[in-house]
Formats: sequence, structure tokens, C-alpha cells
Amino acid sequence: MKDTVLVTGGTGFIGSHTTVELQQAGYNVVIVDNLSNSNADVLDGIEKITGIRPAFEKVDCCDMKALEAVFEKYNGIKGIIHFAASKAVGESVEKPLMYYRNNLNSLINLLELMPKYGVKGIIFSSSCTVYGQPDAENLPVTESAPIKKAESPYGNTKQVNEEIIQDYVNSGAPIKSIILRYFNPIGSHPTAYIGELPNGVPANLIPYLTQTAAGIRECLTVFGDNYNTPDGSCIRDYIYVVDLAKAHVCAMARILDGKAEEPVEIFNIGTGHGVSVLELINSFERATGVKLNYKIGERRAGDIEAIWGNVDKANKVLGWSANTPLDEVLLSAWNWQKHLVK
Ligand code: WQD
Repeated sequence: MKDTVLVTGGTGFIGSHTTVELQQAGYNVVIVDNLSNSNADVLDGIEKITGIRPAFEKVDCCDMKALEAVFEKYNGIKGIIHFAASKAVGESVEKPLMYYRNNLNSLINLLELMPKYGVKGIIFSSSCTVYGQPDAENLPVTESAPIKKAESPYGNTKQVNEEIIQDYVNSGAPIKSIILRYFNPIGSHPTAYIGELPNGVPANLIPYLTQTAAGIRECLTVFGDNYNTPDGSCIRDYIYVVDLAKAHVCAMARILDGKAEEPVEIFNIGTGHGVSVLELINSFERATGVKLNYKIGERRAGDIEAIWGNVDKANKVLGWSANTPLDEVLLSAWNWQKHLVK
């Protein structure tokens, strides 16, 4: 058995998929989650896939006393992957203080505990949101692209969290960190035992799309087809959540195996390809044979026009790449949706 890794937010969408990949790579996983945006049934799904039920503690990372008790109980935690955060862009505009309190305090608590308990490294779940709308000449966007003023409190918490990590390491803290800037995570595990479980009406494209295909939603609205893109709809870099999860295993190994060259390393985690909303709808219909009911509507406030990642650094340095074809990814999302409605 390899080292013990603490996964915060491990019953969430990306956290649960990452737990599966960590376990299958031989790591012992402890999940902490306050279940504010997920449920403990996810642990059953993880166990069905790997045969190993991860240790679970219902803890809010903002509760320092309860969080420290986890490090006391599971002594020997060597790495942390920090997913636990509020992540709805629109909600963050309505409730900025909740977002700053939750997303900043949870990270600060973890960082403060690391040296005390001999934790060597932390992988931080960041987002391409930090780039804002890159200039056309800066697409695909690299890790050295300028960080633009955040378009939402959610995006700002990601930027500030990256700075907190950098400042803490620069102060001499005996830890290393790898920051992963995700593009758009989509899809579900091929077993359909775990997947994306949005609360209420989904804000993100894929869950709304699959719920429309399943008849739960009447019609998908494409938020604008008058952008300066080939077909007028917005472009994103949609990455399969299992490929994304595997990137975390590579990053964790890089730190725990002592291969990290800098105290803080930053990687774009995407496919390197841009796909428009309309192209994605066509891919879904082709992959599933399901005709999707959609219409063109108004633009959504805050949406950027086009972004996709330059992922050469992750390919070369992490030895990782996202290779799953989009049709296969969308089929996995559809299979999960059908599993949910059973
Ligand atoms: C994708 C595209 C919409 C819904 C956000 C966060 C990012 C990450 C992922 C947390 C856009 C269009 C969507 C719909 C549509 N969050 N769309 N109709 O906004 O790129 O990224 O979620 O980790 O940090 O910023 O993702 O899925 O909401 O939208 O046309 O009903 O789909 O306009 O072009 P987004 P999204």
C-alpha cells in the first residue's frame, strides 16, 4: 500500500472519481466532506468500483478543531488533494461572503496543519476561470498567460487561493504544492456507479443537456449563437472527468516521489482542443442516437466567448494527457443519467 492521501470534497463529482483512481493506483484514501453539495451514497459507488470503501469523516474543512482531529486520527497522511469548495459562479455573485469564508478558510486551515502533521504536499483544484477571456492571440492559453480580473467571487477565490499557496510556500513552509487549472470537467465513470450529481436545476451544460435528453427538462437553451466563433456558440475545453482524475494521481506521485522541481508547480488540465456548444450537441446526438430538444436563446451574463488550454506542460512534465474521445465521454454522461432515473 502506498501513502495515505486526504481527499477533501471526496464525495463530490471530481473528488469521487479521483478517489477511485488513487485507490486503483494503490493509495490509501481518507475522505473528508461536509456533504453540503453531495451525499454519502457516493461511498457505495466508489466501493463497487474498487472494492475498497474509503475512510470517511463528515467534516467541514472550515472547522479547524474537527479537521485537526482527522489528522490526529489518521496519522501518516502524506498528501492532500483539496476539492472541498463552493463552486457555483452565479451563487457566488449572490453570496460572496459565504464563498470567501468557505473557499479561503478551508484552504488556510489545511495549509496550517500540514507542517504539524508531516504532510508533504497539497494538490489544489483550481480553474481556467483565472484566465478570464484570453486574448485571441493567447489561445490556446498557457500557464504563463496573464491572470485577468475575476468575473465572479467564485473565480476570485480560485485566484486568491493560488496566491495564498504561493505566499505560504515563499514564507518557508516545508511543503510543496501542485496547482491544477481545470477546464470543463464532464462525463461519468464508465461503470455508471458514480457521476455528476447536480443539486436542483443544473447551471452547467452537460447535466442540463442529459436531463433534457431524459425528459426531465423540457428544452436545452443554447446561451447565444452570435459570438465571434465559427458557428456562433461559445467554445470550451471539455475534459473527461476520469482523465482529469488521473492527472491528480500523476501530480500526487510527482510530489510524494520527490520529483517536483519547484515548491509550487502549475498545470493546465484540459484536452488542448476547443469545442463549441453546438458541436457538443451534435457529438451527443451522434454518440447516443438521441435527438436533443434545444433552442437558441440569449447570451448568459458572465460567459466568456472562447477558451481552451495549451496542455503541453502537463503532457511533458506530468507525463499525462487526456485521450478519451468526446463521443465516448458524452455517452458516459448519458449512461449515468439513465442510471440515475432508474
Ligand atoms: C459551458 C458552456 C454556456 C448551460 C463553469 C465555471 C468553471 C467550472 C465549470 C467549476 C457555456 C453554455 C451552459 C446551458 C448553455 N466550474 N451553456 N446552456 O461556465 O464554462 O464553466 O463551470 O469548477 O470554473 O466557470 O461551464 O457548463 O456552465 O457552460 O448554452 O443550459 O455551455 O453558455 O458556453 P462554464 P458551463
